[in-house]
This record gives sequence, C-alpha cells and structure tokens, in this order.
Amino acid sequence: MKKALDDCQKVAGSKATTLITGESGTGKELFARLIHDLSPRKDKPMVVVNCGALPETLLERELFGHEKGAFTGADDQKLGLFEAADSGTIFLDEIGETSQAMQVKLLRVLQEGAFTRVGGQKTINIDVRVVAATNKDLDKIVHKGEFRKDLYYRLNVVHINLPSLRDRREDITLLAESFLRRIARDLNRLFKGFTPEAINALKIYSWPGNIRQLENAVERAIIMSDSDRIRLEDLPPEITEIKTNDIQIGRSLKDAQEHFKKNFILQSLSLCGGNKTKTAKILDIQRTYLSRLIKELNIEA
Ligand SMILES: Nc1ncnc2c1ncn2[C@@H]1O[C@H](COP(=O)(O)OP(=O)(O)OP(=O)(O)O)[C@@H](O)[C@H]1O
Ligand SMILES: [Mg+2]
Repeated sequence: MKKALDDCQKVAGSKATTLITGESGTGKELFARLIHDLSPRKDKPMVVVNCGALPETLLERELFGHEKGAFTGADDQKLGLFEAADSGTIFLDEIGETSQAMQVKLLRVLQEGAFTRVGGQKTINIDVRVVAATNKDLDKIVHKGEFRKDLYYRLNVVHINLPSLRDRREDITLLAESFLRRIARDLNRLFKGFTPEAINALKIYSWPGNIRQLENAVERAIIMSDSDRIRLEDLPPEITEIKTNDIQIGRSLKDAQEHFKKNFILQSLSLCGGNKTKTAKILDIQRTYLSRLIKELNIEA
C-alpha cells in the first residue's frame, strides 16, 4: 500500500498513462482521484467513465461525442467525455470490459491524442491524461486474445496494483478505526473503539469486498451497537460466521463433528489472540477442558 501511494505521487507529476489494477473495493477510483489531485491538472476536470456500463455504440457516443445527424435522434452536435476532459484527466474504469472495436479507438486516442466524433470527419486533438482501471487480470485476457496487446502496452506505461485487504491484514485495525471515527462523527455517535475480539474478528476475516466491505461493516456495526465500544456481536454475521462448508459429506458423523470442533476452537482461539482463558470464557467451558480438547484434537495453538 505504501508502495502504491509512493507510485501515485511519482506518476502524478507526469502525463504518463496509468493502469490501476486490484480486486473490487480496493480503492482504484480513490487512487485515480489521488493521482489527478496531486497532478498539475488538479484544477482541470477529472471525468469518470464506466466502460462496462454501456453497450458499445452508446459508449462510443459518450466518449467521442457526435455530429448533428450522425444517427436518428442526433438533432444537435454533442461533445464527448474526452473533450470534456481536455487538459484534465479521464478515468476509464473497467477498461477490461471494452469491445475489440472500442479498443482500436482508444488506442488511437492514446497514440495520437486524436479522435473523430461519431458521424464526423474532422480530427480532434486533445490533451488528456488517461488513468484506466480494471479488476480483471489483463495479462490473462490479452493471452486469450480478448484484449489487444498494443492497447495493453499503451495503458500499462505505469502500473499500480492495489493489494487485497486480506494481503494487508496489518492495515485492518488502522482502517477500521479511522472509519469508526469518521462514520461515528457523521452519525453523531461517540465510541471508544473496538473490543479486542471485534478487532481480531476483522483481522481474521477474508474480505472478498475489500476496503469497501470493511467500511460498510463498520457502518453497520455503529448502527447496531448500543454501547460505546464495537463488540463482536455488532459485526455483520458473515464476518463472525464460522465457515463449515469445508466439511464433506460421505464422512462419519463423529469425523464431521471433530472437524467442526477443531475449526471452531481454532477460530475462537485466534479471535482471542491465542489467550486460552478468554477463549474458554467465550466457549463457556472450563479452561482445563479447553486444554484437553486442544490436545485431543491436535490443535496447534
Ligand atoms: N486506502 C483507503 N483508505 C480509506 N478508504 C479507502 C481506501 N481505499 C478505498 N477506500 C474506500 O473504499 C471504497 C471503495 O473504493 P473504490 O471505489 O475506489 O474501489 P474500487 O477499487 O474502484 O472498487 P470497484 O472495483 O468495486 O469499483 C470507497 O468508499 C473508498 O473511499
Ligand atoms: Mg471502482
């Protein structure tokens, strides 16, 4: 993450086309804005286009504009988003969703800084900084022939990859606390923080929706909480739920029970940071019994 921030700062000063990759919710749009805001273009427009949201013909009209009479209903000339972004930045989100024909047109803009409006002849020159993003593995779709290699190279002048939240667990506490402060303030609530169990649960969870999901989870917890600390039970169920779907059918009941028990105890232990007294309390069993179970089930605590 620190590297991604440093890279943003470095590339902001240049006009280099920048490709931001990362899973959903890792902050691609936030970083694109950061690049724009740190750049000499910061007082010029930043235009955001979701390339995956529109069918090709509509996307083309949106991006490049059209001349009067270009198609039925084109009563007037309309400027496109590239022209709107002139001297500023255009953020092409979900670039991996664009059709082959659109990729050719984008390549021309990147190579020549020029395009023609739909139904037009005139070449229009613009000065736009392009930042593109995708949560697809572009390497893979280039390999499969679904994405043009030449466009990929043009986009990939600078590449910033945002790590998934599960690969930067050390940041979870800080992020959660800063969301808590901000959202609590917005909702006019006062909080002292999270209980250690709640924080541990956040650190153990796999976060398929990354930072966006964490932000939403904290907001929900604030709304659900009636104390001055966010507790385990305030967190959304999917975060505290134990995943048992890895128990295969076709095994004996005893086997399945043992598997569940082991998993459950392991996760409870990590929740309590390995503290057996606390874990026993949560499980509502004696500490000595917990120690016996740990030994019997071969749990590496
Ligand atoms: N480093 C960060 N610190 C604080 N908040 C962040 C950070 N990164 C992302 N966020 C927040 O997480 C949410 C998701 O970020 P963003 O929309 O930029 O993700 P994305 O990668 O574009 O997701 P998607 O692929 O789903 O479009 C936003 O509310 C954003 O403000
Ligand atoms: Mg996004």
